[in-house]
Amino acid sequence: MLDIKHVSYAYSHDQKVLSDLSLQVNDGEFVSILGPSGSGKSTLFHLIGGLYRPERGEILLDGREIIGEKGHISYMPQQPALLPWRSVLDNVVLGAELASKKADKGEAKKLLEKAGLAEYANALPHQLSGGMKQRVAFLRSLASPQKLMLLDEPFSALDELTRLSMQNWLLNVWEKNRRSVLFITHSIEEAIYLSDTIYVLSSKPASIVTKVAVPFARPRREEMALEPAFIQLKQELYALLKER
Ligand SMILES: Nc1ncnc2c1ncn2[C@@H]1O[C@H](COP(=O)(O)OP(=O)(O)O)[C@@H](O)[C@H]1O
Ligand SMILES: [Mg+2]
Repeated sequence: MLDIKHVSYAYSHDQKVLSDLSLQVNDGEFVSILGPSGSGKSTLFHLIGGLYRPERGEILLDGREIIGEKGHISYMPQQPALLPWRSVLDNVVLGAELASKKADKGEAKKLLEKAGLAEYANALPHQLSGGMKQRVAFLRSLASPQKLMLLDEPFSALDELTRLSMQNWLLNVWEKNRRSVLFITHSIEEAIYLSDTIYVLSSKPASIVTKVAVPFARPRREEMALEPAFIQLKQELYALLKER
């Protein structure tokens, strides 16, 4: 569904950030981009979201060029960015409201139920913990009509335990909804645990070093991280990242 072909981008002539980068996300696929900090991951998201235009290359969504066009994807930023005066339910429908001017509160309520947040539907954001705010931001993205979700390091600010529970929650909700996801992370374990496919990014100017198909069955289990095949893949990815 998303096809990025030979994209290059520079903020200025001596600030080349992306170089001949290509990747694909298929329908219902969970794809991660794993790369060092400052390599250009967020820049790539801004290009897909239509905020910037690439110098070269193509960005196709379902075969159609979307360069410079906004509104085709739903985006979950690093900070949850909820509107403080809106209830949880009204925050969840916000993406749908902005995209189509109509909000399906019934659907949003069902999502909150599936996500274990039904009792917070009428709460205000300041009444929630940090992890819960992020869950709401994710549901908002999920309730938006766009078929592709971009998640930019959504868990990087969380402590290890909260992060693990967020990953499990995300997988659980995603498996019930199966949207196409492009997920940015600098955590090797997180990429393996969540993804069908991982693209490893080089440091700046970033291009794809390798594409890895993650061989583990779903639903994923936490214990996986202790198994030899997981540890081996982790070591391979670590070596690839370290070389860059
Ligand atoms: N608006 C900007 N103007 C100039 N340089 C930028 C801008 N935004 C990011 N950069 C630079 O581009 C590089 C990639 O940034 P970014 O895409 O945010 O990396 P990542 O998300 O992988 O950490 C960094 O070196 C950063 O300093
Ligand atoms: Mg970033």
